[in-house]
Amino acid sequence: MKTTPKNNSQGRSYIVRGGNPLNGEISVSGAKNAATKQMVACLLTSDPVTLKNIPQIGDVEATAELLEGLGVKIEKNDQDYTISAASLNTSKVSAAFSRKNRIPILLIGPLLHRFGEARIPMLGGCKIGPRPIDIHMQGLEKMGAEVTCEDGYYTIRAKELKATMIELRFPSVGATENLMLAAVLAKGTTTIANAAIEPEIMDTAKLLQAMGAIINLEANRTWVIEGVEKLNGAVHEVIPDRIEAASFGIAAALTGGSVFIRNARQNDLLSFLNAIRKVGVPFTIQSDGILFGSAESYKPVVIETDVHPGFMTDWQQPFVMLLTQANGVSIVHETIFEDRFGYTESLKQMGAHIQLHSDCLGSKECRYKHQNYMHSCIVSGPTPLKAADICIPDLRAGFSYLLAALMADGESHITGIDHIERGYEKILDKMKSLGADIEVTE
Ligand code: EPZ
Repeated sequence: MKTTPKNNSQGRSYIVRGGNPLNGEISVSGAKNAATKQMVACLLTSDPVTLKNIPQIGDVEATAELLEGLGVKIEKNDQDYTISAASLNTSKVSAAFSRKNRIPILLIGPLLHRFGEARIPMLGGCKIGPRPIDIHMQGLEKMGAEVTCEDGYYTIRAKELKATMIELRFPSVGATENLMLAAVLAKGTTTIANAAIEPEIMDTAKLLQAMGAIINLEANRTWVIEGVEKLNGAVHEVIPDRIEAASFGIAAALTGGSVFIRNARQNDLLSFLNAIRKVGVPFTIQSDGILFGSAESYKPVVIETDVHPGFMTDWQQPFVMLLTQANGVSIVHETIFEDRFGYTESLKQMGAHIQLHSDCLGSKECRYKHQNYMHSCIVSGPTPLKAADICIPDLRAGFSYLLAALMADGESHITGIDHIERGYEKILDKMKSLGADIEVTE
């Protein structure tokens, strides 16, 4: 394959020479999808809140800028951020933050409580499907908010948010978080049924409780939140990132190495660990982390992504890479996002045998049945991979491209690396410390 770097139209790139086994130890950073939400939760009080273990990643930087634009003061001390929203100067999020990530929408609850109004630009984030926000808005409307949409902005107004019973049509992570942030200061008791209960959401509930909220997880994925008058400051440590932990675990298995992942938590990785056990990846649970190893050969499996406690959609991409090296035919059924296999095109260029299907392959039918979305795939392995020039389309696909390049024969050039740096802290340093032959071109 071609080895000349692409011209600079794509910005910085990684040059990866495949073939080295990854060996050693890394520490998992704080979870992106907890840290960024918790930074927003700090706007629910005028007191300072200290968040520890904040990862240094693009999405945290973008969230900090977003909050600072509203008048929030952030004191950064390495991984610890003290966030003070004593005085906010606007209820309007700048359009500059539209399409960067999906955090602005979570500001609705805090801004409504502070101003009675929130003006939020249309959202961005990874291009993995249409990603509507109807579940967010329907819940807020049930709480008494008026929502209008004009000129690329949502305007949401409510003098006071009222507690109510909300049943989500799907357990959306973002909508659950949004409604939680709205409910903690609403009048009365809000019930959010058929809600999401991902570990990052649980961690945010812990922060809210430390800030003075009354919030409980009840049977059947139901959050019950008794609104309080006021929240106060708190100190909270963000949980380790279970996506980063799983991704590096697969990196060890695929490169024929062995990596101890400090702070990886078995609790948050149960379904992932079951899946890799079936594939034949050896691992040992230790008190302070998990040691992931590798085997001579791997077995094919059938896997379906699902809401927590199922196999998460953000593990799907590195897992597909693992299956390219399994002995036989595997099936992956993506039931969360309708369009999350686009990234496999480049893997096919590198030699992977992956076929996309619109049927619900696997054992159950999902919302995307008969809708013509390519949301299932058949992976046949094992296939040797060859180096290529590839461009990362979204964050999690980015890690699987890195894995492909680490295993491939030859030198790969990966562009679009801002995507990967949005979500993985010091990924280059961590990879190099494990023995990866990788460098960045500016
Ligand atoms: C969060 O996205 C994460 N992002 C995603 O991780 C993760 O893949 C996803 O949850 C599922 O676990 C952040 O936390 C920032 P959803 P979110 O609302 O909240 C549909 C990463 O790489 N839906 O649970 O946007 C939606 O279209 C990112 O870190 C509606 O139909 O996910 C999707 O099909 C990528 N209407 C499904 O629900 C709505 O109003 C799940 O979305 C909301 C969602």
